Amino acid sequence: MQWTRKDLLSLYDLSAEEITYILDTAEEFKKVSERRVKKVPALRGKTVVNFFVEPSTRTRVSFELAEQRLSADIVNMQAQASSLLKGETLLDTVKNIEALQVDLVVMRHSAPGAQAFIARHLSCGVVNAGDGAHSHPTQALLDIFTIREKKGRIAGLNVTIVGDIIHSRVARSNIWGLLKLGANVTVAGPATMVPKEFESIGVRVCHNLKDALKDADVVNMLRIQRERQTAGFFPSTGEYAKFFGLNHDTMKYLKPDALVMHPGPINRDVELTGDIADGPNSVILEQVTNGLAIRMAVLYLVGCVKK
Ligand code: NCD
Repeated sequence: MQWTRKDLLSLYDLSAEEITYILDTAEEFKKVSERRVKKVPALRGKTVVNFFVEPSTRTRVSFELAEQRLSADIVNMQAQASSLLKGETLLDTVKNIEALQVDLVVMRHSAPGAQAFIARHLSCGVVNAGDGAHSHPTQALLDIFTIREKKGRIAGLNVTIVGDIIHSRVARSNIWGLLKLGANVTVAGPATMVPKEFESIGVRVCHNLKDALKDADVVNMLRIQRERQTAGFFPSTGEYAKFFGLNHDTMKYLKPDALVMHPGPINRDVELTGDIADGPNSVILEQVTNGLAIRMAVLYLVGCVKK
């Protein structure tokens, strides 16, 4: 197929064919990082600005390394040191960046839809590195890539996502991507963080960990997004861990070959214990490795599209 999008904003917008095309492209780019010289000239002469208006460790480093491995020129903008603090609008800031003949803007922002908004006004490409609780497409792509690599397929698999689903962009993006590729998705957690309304988008909603894990091929454990919570969504961290945490005892509910995933950052002993995070079912660090390949694929596809 021919890639035609200048932006990557959300998996909701993409077809199954487009998602599969990104995964296949990432498979090729994964080999680059395994070489002695970890670099290809795919984005030589292109400039990428990384603009993270919300905290990030993995995603920011991963995007920056992906850009370096594609030979792009890179500028890292610090939101705290930008003119946003002087009252400039987000659109004015990014229009000024574009006026410097930049080719791609990779942005993380706390406002849902911020990247879609700027993408409508810019002719350069925009890649969403997370917008509030809405969408985090490259995280879901790397999760789906990891599942496909380990299980050989996506269609027909049972994937359970446990945690603060209502505040999670990782959950939403995974749901959209996994459903498009034919997986069965269960979301689980306390009713305050996993409302029944999620059923309307085609997922199973479960408020009991045992039922949620029973037939799962994959379990993705998410962090409580305290920075997005405005009220007390559960009584205490200890109680949450007791009912919804993955530990030595609750691992018994899972099939022996189930994959344990987590997008990071982990709150050890809350959503899962250290022995499980570091145990034989865990693919958490492989997710990080695959994230680099996914970001190389996405940057290459949107960066080389004919405008
Ligand atoms: C996630 C995020 O920022 O949405 N982390 C990540 O990108 N690896 C999940 C989280 O913060 O819990």
